[in-house]
Amino acid sequence: MQTIHPESKFVIVWESLIVLVTLYNYIAVPFRIAFKTSSDGIWLILDIISDSVLIADIFLRFHIGYIDQGAFIDDKHKIHQNYCSKDFKINLIASLPIDIIIRIIFYTTPGYVISILRLPRLLRGFQCLGIFRRWENNVNVNPVVIRMINLVVIIFLIDHCVACLWFFIGNVATISNQSWLTRASLQDASTTTQYMKALYWSITTLTTVGYGDITPTNDLEIAFTLVIMFLGVSMYAFIIGNVASLIANLDANQGRFREKLDQIQAYMRERRIPSYLQQQVRDYYQYMWEYSHDASMELDFLDELPHSIKTRIYLHLHQELLEKVPLFKDADKGFIEDLVIKLKPRILPPNDYIIREEQLGHEMYFIKRGEVIAFSEKTGRIYRTMTAGMFFGEIALLYSSRRTASVKTQTYCELFVLYKDDFDQVLENYPRFWEKVKEIAEQRFQTK
Ligand code: CMP
Repeated sequence: MQTIHPESKFVIVWESLIVLVTLYNYIAVPFRIAFKTSSDGIWLILDIISDSVLIADIFLRFHIGYIDQGAFIDDKHKIHQNYCSKDFKINLIASLPIDIIIRIIFYTTPGYVISILRLPRLLRGFQCLGIFRRWENNVNVNPVVIRMINLVVIIFLIDHCVACLWFFIGNVATISNQSWLTRASLQDASTTTQYMKALYWSITTLTTVGYGDITPTNDLEIAFTLVIMFLGVSMYAFIIGNVASLIANLDANQGRFREKLDQIQAYMRERRIPSYLQQQVRDYYQYMWEYSHDASMELDFLDELPHSIKTRIYLHLHQELLEKVPLFKDADKGFIEDLVIKLKPRILPPNDYIIREEQLGHEMYFIKRGEVIAFSEKTGRIYRTMTAGMFFGEIALLYSSRRTASVKTQTYCELFVLYKDDFDQVLENYPRFWEKVKEIAEQRFQTK
């Protein structure tokens, strides 16, 4: 069997199944022990299915590679070593079907005894925590969502287990006729009602709401309630803190953007900037957010990355531009990789001068989105309207001359700027680019 990549879709689906099976065990095992339900019928079928998955997992793990210091290890011997030194033993203990063997040998074993033998299944919880941690880093879903699901599942399972324990304690004490079950006249109620009441008590006590309609009756129940109340205070303080920060991070980018906009608005109000100008600033940021999700903010961290990764990210980010500009389409790979990290994004509002005729030029521009016009301010003649995929501002750089025309935005424009030093470097290294740009510049110069 071929080694499977730990980040492949198959592993993600398989691990989801493991999480589901473990969830089933966490719900079923405490419930069946506390409520002394039978372990036959549908329970037996579900037990066999879930155990089969867990046993299959033990074997499958010998064929799933792992990542060590960023490298994918697919060597069978190393995988065996790694698995045996880590999760193998715990997975084996958690999956041994002792209950099924006992069932076969002693045909009439009580249901709750069978369920007690299934307690080691809960050890798989550790593996699930590891799976959630991996999903946070690898799966293509917002990690905050994964963390949120993780938190909700853990809270539910704690509530469920406490409910089962509460019922178990009540049930033991019922024998001496002194328990919360007898006080609430629940000893003969249906299992569903009993479970609902126990869960209701568990949630109200853990959240420290405590309505007081179900109260402890004997010493054991009082002691248990005290522990749960103490646990509840610390647990919910932890949960509320976590949820608040998770929600704040759910769309961290949007949060940061809102904060930035609020600061800008406060500044403009303080300085009594005219309201029409304030509106223009707001419109500008709105456009930035809608079309580029404020690229200026997200590009900051890229500078810390190694050159090769940075280049690949820029190639992805600037893909739209690279596809639109004919000059780049059949250019060689090295040239594109060299150029792409030198391009700096810039967003401009409508009717904004980008270049003024006769001034000195220090940069050229590529249009990703929007429309600009090149015209003469002296004669009023419009030379050309330019749209996505075109470039301008190259003449002054090529000939170290003054700007031959003015260029103004017609709409909101997303541009990429190439500064003179970078431009010269690219020209030096890639003479074919130089020739093409020169050819276009000459045509433009002649049509003036
Ligand atoms: P530059 O002279 O550096 O600055 C103004 C820019 O306007 C110029 O480079 C060209 O990119 C552009 N431009 C000037 N004349 C024309 C034209 N006739 N057609 C298209 N673009 C032009």
